[in-house]
Amino acid sequence: MKIQIINGPNLNLLGKREPDIYGNSSFEDYLIKLREKYPDVQIDYFQSNIEGEMINKMQEVGFCYDGIVLNAGAYTHTSIALHDCIRSIVAPVIEVHISNVHQREEFRHHSMISSACHGVICGFGMDSYRLAVEGLLMND
Ligand code: DQA
Repeated sequence: MKIQIINGPNLNLLGKREPDIYGNSSFEDYLIKLREKYPDVQIDYFQSNIEGEMINKMQEVGFCYDGIVLNAGAYTHTSIALHDCIRSIVAPVIEVHISNVHQREEFRHHSMISSACHGVICGFGMDSYRLAVEGLLMND
């Protein structure tokens, strides 16, 4: 089984960025533990601050991977291009957020991508990614 994790803008700063909201761990450190939990699953990781690069990656893996775990960061709330991309590919996409976006500013309450995604997980800290992997394994 092959799963692609894609993190969007500013998520390269996890561990340094607003630790009260996003925690103290870098994504790379979390990824080591996540991969240890699922030794039989190939978990690839890609991060970009650039919307078009995220789309390129989704198009690249979207016809040959078993699922995508996508934290689109702030593009979640703005990107019709990501919505269209998710609808264009075959692999199921799970939308993930570290924070509970519904407890935060109103502009974070709406997602442009949820309706195109297979499922949505938010508010479980970094564990949101593990729960999304579990969701994809259930789907398999
Ligand atoms: C986020 C929530 C978004 O609103 C925000 O723009 C992010 C991170 C989260 O993981 O909680 O960059 O997707």
